[in-house]
Amino acid sequence: MKKKTIKDVDLAGKRVLMRVDFNVPIKDGEVSDDTRIRGALPTIEYAAGEGAKVILVSHLGRPADKPDQAFSLRPVRKRLSQLLAEEVAFADDCIGEEANAAVSKLSDGKVLLLENVRFHPGEKKNDPEFARQLALLADVYVNDAFGTAHRAHASTAGITQFVGECVAGLLMERELEVLGKVLTNPERPFVAILGGAKVSDKLPVIKSLIEKKVDKLLIGGAMAYTFFKALGYTVGKSLVEDDMLSKALELKSEAEKAGIQLLLPTDHQVVDSFDPLNSRKTIPIDFTNSGLVGLDIGDETVQIFSEALKGAKTIVWNGPMGMFEEKPFDEGTFAIAEAVAEATDNGAFSVVGGGDSVAAINEAGLADRVSHISTGGGATLEFLSGIELPGVAALDDA
Ligand code: 3PG
Repeated sequence: MKKKTIKDVDLAGKRVLMRVDFNVPIKDGEVSDDTRIRGALPTIEYAAGEGAKVILVSHLGRPADKPDQAFSLRPVRKRLSQLLAEEVAFADDCIGEEANAAVSKLSDGKVLLLENVRFHPGEKKNDPEFARQLALLADVYVNDAFGTAHRAHASTAGITQFVGECVAGLLMERELEVLGKVLTNPERPFVAILGGAKVSDKLPVIKSLIEKKVDKLLIGGAMAYTFFKALGYTVGKSLVEDDMLSKALELKSEAEKAGIQLLLPTDHQVVDSFDPLNSRKTIPIDFTNSGLVGLDIGDETVQIFSEALKGAKTIVWNGPMGMFEEKPFDEGTFAIAEAVAEATDNGAFSVVGGGDSVAAINEAGLADRVSHISTGGGATLEFLSGIELPGVAALDDA
């Protein structure tokens, strides 16, 4: 359903409470990946340019429903100030006196960031009283937090009961447009690449892609071992979800029935579980023995997957091909990032979502060579699974 956007409302002189997803990685007190902050800049700049008082609200991490400096948004304020080339104001609380005072000091066209909304237990509970208190700061509510739109929390859903105008931001609008196109009207051939540790996390999206009759489904990452074990291969000490074995077989046969080419790795990088540091080698999947752990796809798989991407007109990629956080087991993921970029150069519309796959694209300097980097992890998967996102449903219809 079409939703009203920030372009449909009058912002001049208004207090615009904007939910953003600034849940970004922080290392040594600094933002280590600012993709999500950059993603929200066009909406922030648009609102400020229209003369709004821009009040940003976000969560960061999963604090225990109380203030905890390890989850403070202050490092985000610093990065955002750099990106906007102006000092962003900050309030140590997102409701109450502190927040009110900061809002009343804010001039038109200026930006204020409120402290982590998850410092309050009412946020995740979607508590109406907490939502009402947040709403006291707002004349207009804008949701630009696509990455959190799958959460029905006070700042993403409940608040809309208490603010007259509730609209989507520009990032939210673009994410819904791009992902909606992929879901409903993809140009073919349509190839999906899924990775990551667990089949269970990806189950609904695999089902949905099978229903949409994706042309090829490439499965890498540790989740491939659940398929291999189900198919009777020896997987050694590789990560497997034993309660997903029959589901994996079911998915494979559903894909086959639908005429979908489902590709699994043919080789992988393994280590000996007794000597992980010195034993890395690449072997065919069926050479695996009980002492080995698979940690990344091998060169042959990279070639086969890259070949499968050639000529694609739509590509969706979510999830790493190996243990991305541990070098050199990030190589397979980087190689797939390159293959996705190449296919995009040759005319594919490519969408990349999920932390590690997006990090691989960014670290490899390929961000300009893919069509869309989604700021959602779980939200992107839920959307592509056909699930209605509560943060979107709550906004005013166009
Ligand atoms: C995300 O990173 O996927 C979103 O910011 C949501 O975070 P959450 O999983 O802690 O709700």
